Amino acid sequence: MSTTALTGIGLLVTHDAELGEIRDAALVIDEDRIVWIGASADVPDADDGTDLDGRCVIPGFVDSHTHVIFAGDRAPEFEARMSGQPYTAGGIHSTVAATRAASDDELTGHAAGLIAEMLAAGTTTTEIKTGYGLSTVDEQRSAQVAARLSDDVTFLGAHVVPAEYADRPDDYVALVSGPMLDACAPYCRWIDVFCDRGAFDVDQARAILAAGSARGLGLRVHANQFAHGAGVQLAVELGAASADHCTHLSDTDVEALAGSTTVATLLPGAEFSTRSPYPDARRLIDAGATVALATDCNPGSSYTSNMAFCIALAVREMNMTPAEALWAATAGGARALRRDDVGVIALGSRADLVALQATSPVHLAYRPGVPLIAATWKGGQPITA
Ligand code: NIG
Ligand code: FE
Repeated sequence: MSTTALTGIGLLVTHDAELGEIRDAALVIDEDRIVWIGASADVPDADDGTDLDGRCVIPGFVDSHTHVIFAGDRAPEFEARMSGQPYTAGGIHSTVAATRAASDDELTGHAAGLIAEMLAAGTTTTEIKTGYGLSTVDEQRSAQVAARLSDDVTFLGAHVVPAEYADRPDDYVALVSGPMLDACAPYCRWIDVFCDRGAFDVDQARAILAAGSARGLGLRVHANQFAHGAGVQLAVELGAASADHCTHLSDTDVEALAGSTTVATLLPGAEFSTRSPYPDARRLIDAGATVALATDCNPGSSYTSNMAFCIALAVREMNMTPAEALWAATAGGARALRRDDVGVIALGSRADLVALQATSPVHLAYRPGVPLIAATWKGGQPITA
């Protein structure tokens, strides 16, 4: 057993209901957990210690929506889009081809590189989706690679209908709900469906989610990114942990989310990178819905791994306050993953922490694009670049 004290914390943002924020704080880590939180002047003896010299400490970011298992990139597609081409779900097929052609080692190395990039930028929990294999063997190896890197792996065989099933989509729905699910479920905690224009309709999504639920997987839904549709309603009806994107919502959708435990996960990197209107976070929060922020890191619609960038977008473009955006990127992400051990700094929670090169968390939005992550601890271990 070895304990570490972090002292001289100018402002500790706990997101713990009782405490919220503590000035001139300290905390003690024992192995991978937080065992003491209080005033710097009262800190108990520990085996070793670090003085943070007045820096602000926040919970590590919880990125509850990523697609980091893929090969290749789509810079030409982005370039064409910035010249006026529209974004559609169709670009996914080129990443599927590259992913199928990549070895397990290539997929692992690439995803591990993105996870390292995230850790260096303060993200200590990352959900990872499959979804660029779209055959039983390629989805299974995507899930296996993801399971080496995260406890929150999501089976997204229902990302789009692959080209070889284009004229018989119901056969693909049967594959995803049957043999492909059987092959992937052992590595996954969650199942997700892209329920939107150009992907799966609500009946197909319902069938796939029901099959996943019967296998013990929790539910998540890509919903209402491109158009008003039934995705959000389906997510709420099925008790999904999260409805993700939520860009085009009716009043009924907002009310349904507000009256449910389904988190509205907003992905402003996708609107930024597809030059689309941002979701209305203010409307969701004012209605009483729980909002999370995540990167959606993927090679098509949002090739950022940076949660601080998403916070800055959420504040500037989505009318969230800096405090709301930070909560959504930490505690909100934890809610979206139905986890209570991360996203907060509380006694017994995981020692996943970020020290900012700033005295206030407002700087995350106030100084966009500036690397403010001075130090990160994951499970009590300092991350070195
Ligand atoms: O979340 N919406 C579906 N999937 C991704 C995009 C994937 C891609 O374009 O490769 C998203 O935005
Ligand atoms: Fe996504």
